[in-house]
Amino acid sequence: MTLNVSVIGTSYLGATHAAGMAEFGHQVVGIDIDEDKVKILNAGQSHIFEVGLEPLLEKHTSTGRLRFTTDYSEIADWADVHFLALGTPSQKSGAADLGQLYSAIESLAPLLTKPCLVVGKSTVPVGTALELEKRIRELAPAGDAIEVAWNPEFLREAYAVEDTLHPDRLVFGTHSQHALDVLAEIYALPISDRTPVVRCDIATAELIKVAANSFLATKISFINAMAQMCQAAGGDVTLLADAIGFDKRIGREFLNAGLGFGGGCLPKDIAALAYRADELGVNVLSEFIHAVEAINDGQRSEIADLAIEQAGGDVTGKRIAVLGAAFKPGTDDTRNSPALTVADRLHAHGADVRIYDPEARLPPREGFTQVASVEQAMLGAEVVLHLTEWPEFRQLDPEKYSPLVKSKVMIDARLKLDASTWRGAGWKVVQIGRAA
Ligand code: UGA
Repeated sequence: MTLNVSVIGTSYLGATHAAGMAEFGHQVVGIDIDEDKVKILNAGQSHIFEVGLEPLLEKHTSTGRLRFTTDYSEIADWADVHFLALGTPSQKSGAADLGQLYSAIESLAPLLTKPCLVVGKSTVPVGTALELEKRIRELAPAGDAIEVAWNPEFLREAYAVEDTLHPDRLVFGTHSQHALDVLAEIYALPISDRTPVVRCDIATAELIKVAANSFLATKISFINAMAQMCQAAGGDVTLLADAIGFDKRIGREFLNAGLGFGGGCLPKDIAALAYRADELGVNVLSEFIHAVEAINDGQRSEIADLAIEQAGGDVTGKRIAVLGAAFKPGTDDTRNSPALTVADRLHAHGADVRIYDPEARLPPREGFTQVASVEQAMLGAEVVLHLTEWPEFRQLDPEKYSPLVKSKVMIDARLKLDASTWRGAGWKVVQIGRAA
């Protein structure tokens, strides 16, 4: 059955979810306080670089099945279901900042005069959903007829559309049969029968999301710690990851050693889980997470230190080439980007950093120059750092760049370059945890 669905918040998550809901056959209105975003989205365009999103937006805005607005009165009583897809950034303490969620509720709830379901998709500290429900019921004329459910989202940037249309699993956190029925209806037709659906209470649904991200972060930090071990002992972490990954209980994914995790999700979500764990007295979990974070931070420092060492102990005034600025390939997102942390550190040590990324556009900032090609980045470089593993960097021909650089030194922080080809062209290639 076609439902009227609103999606509140139109960033990565909201814009993709709104387009996905339209693709599933629902009538959808996305809402955002940012008029510029609304204008772009209504034109069937995407304000973010995400493969496959623009065609979906175009397809459904052109038929009127999907539109965007800044006006809550257009969606309040119109929608059967309101999805909350707002950001929950980190505060300095590590706690999640729930300001956007509460301000959306303050705008929406006073306009709700009919029963409806409010479904959270944002990543939140456990306990948030019930607090939000309390606040909505206080503010809404419909009062207790409004119900909250939690349906966390697991989409990855760069695969957002694919993950939305073909999720690995769905999680329905509810406290009534009615809410469960509505969620089942929303996802009924389009999602394959084989997609596992986990039906659970709301607290479990909130925790599932942060547990998933924390486990992914843990895999990455574990393999990075093993990379250090390989480095110390002369082993090869990539072969090690391949070998342990063949064990189905372990799996090969998220065992790519290198510069560690960044982005708008993993770092903030695990920090918020640690904070919430402390609040609830579960110190064993917060200590575990802090160990994962410490390994991750350590990778960034180590690569910056390595660059300084390779430049002869001092980078002052020396040109350093950085390949990659996005937090991972396939996106233009530079939030908490490991590559930029390393670039910033080198600049702080006086280096003249030239950075190239195929998609990410950096706002003008003091410290380093963004250039438009690999050639420009490499020109006069004393050390080259491969920090975001865009596939095109794997295709680079070292012979072509040899005459451009001052010293043929490549630090492959993502362990993805074919070291033997580069070495064959006379380059020194440093990869932490891979035997030379
Ligand atoms: C992550 C999760 O993978 C999604 O399931 C989740 O929905 C999303 O956060 C979210 O909470 O919204 P994303 O932030 O797009 O998705 O990025 P990932 O693909 O998870 O990569 C995170 C970081 O880990 C990147 O910096 C990547 O370079 C790094 N990484 C990943 C490694 O260093 N090694 C690996 O083996 C894999």
